[in-house]
Amino acid sequence: MEQWSEVLEAAKVKAEKCHCCKICNGKACRGETPGVGGKGSGEAFVRNYEKLRDVLLVLDTITTNEEIDTSADFFGHRVSLPVYAAPISGIRQNYGADLEDGAYTEMLVEGCLQAGTIAFTGDGMYDAMFLDPLAALAKRNGRGVATIKPWQEKDFQWRAEAACEAGVLAIATDVDASGLTNLRNSVTPVGFKDVEGLRALKKLANRPLIVKGILSVKGALKAKEAGADAIIVSNHGGRVLDECLSGIEVLPEIVDALKGSGMRILVDGGFRSGLDVFKALALGADGVLIGRPLSLAVIGDGAEGVKIYLEKIALELRETMAMCGVKKISEISREHVKVLF
Ligand SMILES: Cc1cc2nc3c(=O)[nH]c(=O)nc-3n(C[C@H](O)[C@H](O)[C@H](O)COP(=O)(O)O)c2cc1C
Repeated sequence: MEQWSEVLEAAKVKAEKCHCCKICNGKACRGETPGVGGKGSGEAFVRNYEKLRDVLLVLDTITTNEEIDTSADFFGHRVSLPVYAAPISGIRQNYGADLEDGAYTEMLVEGCLQAGTIAFTGDGMYDAMFLDPLAALAKRNGRGVATIKPWQEKDFQWRAEAACEAGVLAIATDVDASGLTNLRNSVTPVGFKDVEGLRALKKLANRPLIVKGILSVKGALKAKEAGADAIIVSNHGGRVLDECLSGIEVLPEIVDALKGSGMRILVDGGFRSGLDVFKALALGADGVLIGRPLSLAVIGDGAEGVKIYLEKIALELRETMAMCGVKKISEISREHVKVLF
C-alpha cells in the first residue's frame, strides 16, 4: 500500500468494532466502550477533536528557502518528529480485530522506528497485557516507553523492573486510569496516587517518569512536586470521564505554570494531522501522542501502515512549518497560532 486511504480501507475489513471513519472525531462511536469510543455520551472524545478546530494557524510566508527540520529530542534520543504512538491495549476487545496486543505492539514499534520515532506500550488487568507488549519493545532494545497502570506498589515494582531490564527509554504511568471501575475491581487493583504515592513510583521507575492523564494546573504541579520528569496532558481519549476538558484547552495554562521547571509536556487526544501537531507545539507542548489512527494503521497494514501514517503527519507538519515561516521545531511559538477558546 502507498497511501493512508488504502490502509484505512484495509483496516475497515478487519476492525469490526471500529467505524474506521475518514475523520476520526469520536462522533460515530459515541459511548462505544468496549469499542473505541469515548465514555458515556462520548462528548470528551468529540471535544478533543473539536477544540483543535478552534486553534488557527498564523501564516508568515515571506521567508527563506532553508530546509525544514522536524527532528526533536526525546530524553536524549533524537526522533524524526515529536510525535509518538500512544499506549493502546485490548486491540481484540476494542477493535474486534484478530490481533493480540503483543503482535500488535511489535508492528507498532517497528513502524514507529522505521519512521524515526518511538511508541508507548500499554497495560491492562492481565499480566500478559503488559508483558507481551514489553517483549515487543525488548526485541528492539527497549527503544520506546512502557506505560504501567497505577497499581499497588508491588505490582508496579515488578513491571518497572521488567521494563528497566528491557532497556526502555522511560516509564509512563496513566494515573487517570485509577478511577476505572473494572480496574479498581480487578485481581490486581489500581488505586489513586497522591504526591507521596507518585514519588514512590518515581523511585521504583528508576528511569525518567512520565505521568499521563493530567488535565489541570493543580495536577501538573503535583506531578512536578512528586519529581516526575514529564507529563502527558490527556483525558485518555475521552475514555475515563464523560464531559471533561480536552488536553489542548488546558495546555497553555499548564505550560505557563511549569515554565522554567525543566519538565517536559506532551499532549494527546484527537490529534489527526501535522497541522494539529503544530498547534500543540505552538502552545508550548514538547510533543504529541496519537492513538486510534495508529492502531488502525497497524490493523490495516502492520508496520508499513504505521510508517505511511507517520510520514503523512511529518509531511503535513513540514508544510505547516514552511507556511508559518519556521525552519526548526524549537522556532515554533505562540505567535504562530490564534486561539478562539
Ligand atoms: C482502545 C483504547 C485503549 C487504550 N489503552 C490505553 C492503555 O492501555 N494505557 C493508556 O495509558 N492509555 C490507553 N488509551 C488512551 C490512549 O493512550 C490515548 O490517551 C488516547 O487514545 C489519545 O487519543 P486519540 O486516540 O484520539 O489520539 C487507550 C485508548 C483506546 C482508544
